[in-house]
Amino acid sequence: MKIAFYDTKDYDRIYFEKLAPQYGFELKFFETRFIPGTETLATGCDAVCLFVNDIINRETIEKLADIGIKVILMRCAGYDNIDLKACKDFGISVFRVPSYSPTAVAEYAAALLLTLNRKIHKAYVRTKEFNFKISGLMGITLRGKTIGIIGTGKIGKVMIDIVKGLGMNILAYDLFPDPNLDVNYVSLDELLKKSDVISLHVPLSPDSKYIINKNSISKMKDGVILINTSRGALIDTEALIAGLKANKFRGVALDVYEEEDEYFFEDRSLDIIKDEDLIKLVTYPNVIVTSHQAFFTEESLQAIAETTCENLKCFEEGGTCENEIAYTE
Ligand code: NAI
Repeated sequence: MKIAFYDTKDYDRIYFEKLAPQYGFELKFFETRFIPGTETLATGCDAVCLFVNDIINRETIEKLADIGIKVILMRCAGYDNIDLKACKDFGISVFRVPSYSPTAVAEYAAALLLTLNRKIHKAYVRTKEFNFKISGLMGITLRGKTIGIIGTGKIGKVMIDIVKGLGMNILAYDLFPDPNLDVNYVSLDELLKKSDVISLHVPLSPDSKYIINKNSISKMKDGVILINTSRGALIDTEALIAGLKANKFRGVALDVYEEEDEYFFEDRSLDIIKDEDLIKLVTYPNVIVTSHQAFFTEESLQAIAETTCENLKCFEEGGTCENEIAYTE
């Protein structure tokens, strides 16, 4: 099987190049994102390997089908960027890596919380310039404070374990509460009203889009800390910026952003940035923006490469694979 690998970074190559020969797979690497106009690069391949910000809509899927692509291998967990109905219509199977390292993402969410609260990112910059003043760097003690975890799946559960260790009180909200999880499930409203910290761990779907909006922000405590390591469009950016302007938040940490696809994973430091919301967010002193890197550990990349190869092997052998994403009405 030949795989066209889009949006390739050096760190992807290392892990996939090591594994692919064991499976007899041939890899063709492309640096471009998978966007309209790039489909024919995959001519002669059987599969494409794509990522979180690729544009996998009816138009691009039809072109993939035209050149004989049979499989889309997502090297990530989320699949909100794929038109699954179009994949079904054009006979293309879709696989993903549902769980490569919930721990990596949860650890990162916790790191953002601790960094943001204690302003370690600012202290680092100060001391690099031999500025040893600490005024302006005060945080709050997290022990005894309440954290609201929205989404108690694989990542949310690890986050709960971590914040238990910090001695925080935990409230949780999930459409499908886990009866085996020792946590206090409450309504979304109660979570919003009572939490000092809110961390998002739900997938993006029509149900969860803008779960954080003007109305939900108005219900939050003044001085709340908001962490999003899940998907950008869980937050209505306009409402978030209005909240920041109104001094609603002690801090906001975003590893994901609604319009990230133009910017994240690339060096844009010499470009004129046109996204004014992104400029505003980066400029706020109480906001940390990082570039969708919560997953980014050695173990995650190894697991992503292994599962992606196993997914293609499973497709090749015609077996049923639990990582195949089926279209449901
Ligand atoms: P999961 O599927 O194990 O858990 C998701 C939980 O959210 C489930 O318990 C589900 O019932 C709940 N849920 C779904 N829709 C909901 C809604 N509208 N309201 C309330 N609860 C809802 O997913 P997992 O592995 O924990 O991942 C969560 C998300 O994290 C992924 O979908 C992905 O978007 C994001 N992610 C981000 C990464 C990063 O590098 N920043 C890396 C990996 C995942």
